[in-house]
Amino acid sequence: MQVVQLSQYGDADVLEVAERPTPQPEAGRVRVRVTARSVNPADLGSRSGALAVMVPDLAFPAVLGWDFAGTLLDDAAVAAGVTAPDAPADTLPAGTRVAGFVPWFGEAAGDGSYAEVLVVDPTWVAPVPDGVTDAQAAVLGMNALTGAHAADLVAELAGGLDGATVLVTGASGPVGAAAVRDAVGRGARVLAVGSADDDAFVAGLGAEVLPRTDAAGIAAAARAAVPGGVDAVFNAGLASHELLDAVRDGGVFVSATRGYMPEAARGVVVDGVHVEPDAPRLASLLRDAADGTLPARVAEELPLAGAADAHRRLADGGLRGKLVLVS
Ligand SMILES: NC(=O)c1ccc[n+]([C@@H]2O[C@H](COP(=O)([O-])OP(=O)(O)OC[C@H]3O[C@@H](n4cnc5c(N)ncnc54)[C@H](OP(=O)(O)O)[C@@H]3O)[C@@H](O)[C@H]2O)c1
Repeated sequence: MQVVQLSQYGDADVLEVAERPTPQPEAGRVRVRVTARSVNPADLGSRSGALAVMVPDLAFPAVLGWDFAGTLLDDAAVAAGVTAPDAPADTLPAGTRVAGFVPWFGEAAGDGSYAEVLVVDPTWVAPVPDGVTDAQAAVLGMNALTGAHAADLVAELAGGLDGATVLVTGASGPVGAAAVRDAVGRGARVLAVGSADDDAFVAGLGAEVLPRTDAAGIAAAARAAVPGGVDAVFNAGLASHELLDAVRDGGVFVSATRGYMPEAARGVVVDGVHVEPDAPRLASLLRDAADGTLPARVAEELPLAGAADAHRRLADGGLRGKLVLVS
């Protein structure tokens, strides 16, 4: 099978296409013929070494990639609550279209989804409904789950979302978009900042759109809209520490990345979200995508062997949706 691997940290040129033996069936694991995986900011940091601290014992050559969509090669004894039409309870048969993600900063370090066949824990996979393409499922596999888990964390720390005011940055990306949609659905008033010229998309999630400026400007706009400050911020957009000023005293600040967690001040609780496999929740999110109530934007599909090009394009910015590597 084809993989894209790296043998050292560096720029996109370190990504090399290689052949490896196709994995054989393994007890307690299932194989997925991967047809789509999205290219994510974490992949760039994992390739460059900027995120090496997350995987200090990474063995080279390493295969990148968190999320996946594709077809089961083996029957899967899936997580409780995960079902598919016409499938026996708690089982998805070989041939089922599935999506999920592998914990690349954990037990899957170096064994990611930039491979034609991936070996995974069967409890990590969720069925992909008709109406959702493999590329769209790959956009959601890790990212929508992260946004949903972020909304859970904000709700837990803020004592609920109904009636709360929440500011979300990065609302044009799938993490922020899923968080906005979830928070709106739970009764929050959501202010959101997306990419420049993407207001219609962000407004369509049910948010009040704030202009994309620097963190201090975003915080000032939030304070103008909500005098005294919002109850909670979810920073999925890498806005710098000044964004803390948007939160009221004693509020909540949740970050998608460690580097964007400010020091706690004024009684604000600061925390980070860490996505965990959660197949029942992912199955629900995929059904929402099929219903058209959760967006899954694909900027472009590229061949798996074009991973280096995709990394360069993601680094250049300006995308609307994910680049998805297909095989
Ligand atoms: N903790 C976890 O478990 C976990 C899991 C998955 C993802 N993540 C992280 O979550 C973040 C979002 O992921 P994603 O896939 O949705 O990313 P994405 O597709 O790259 O979208 C990020 C969005 O943030 C915007 N943005 C960038 N800098 C900003 C700033 N200074 N102020 C306001 N907005 C800004 C971007 O706009 P432009 O493109 O226009 O700049 C874009 O709309 C990433 O940092 C990712 O690494 C964390």
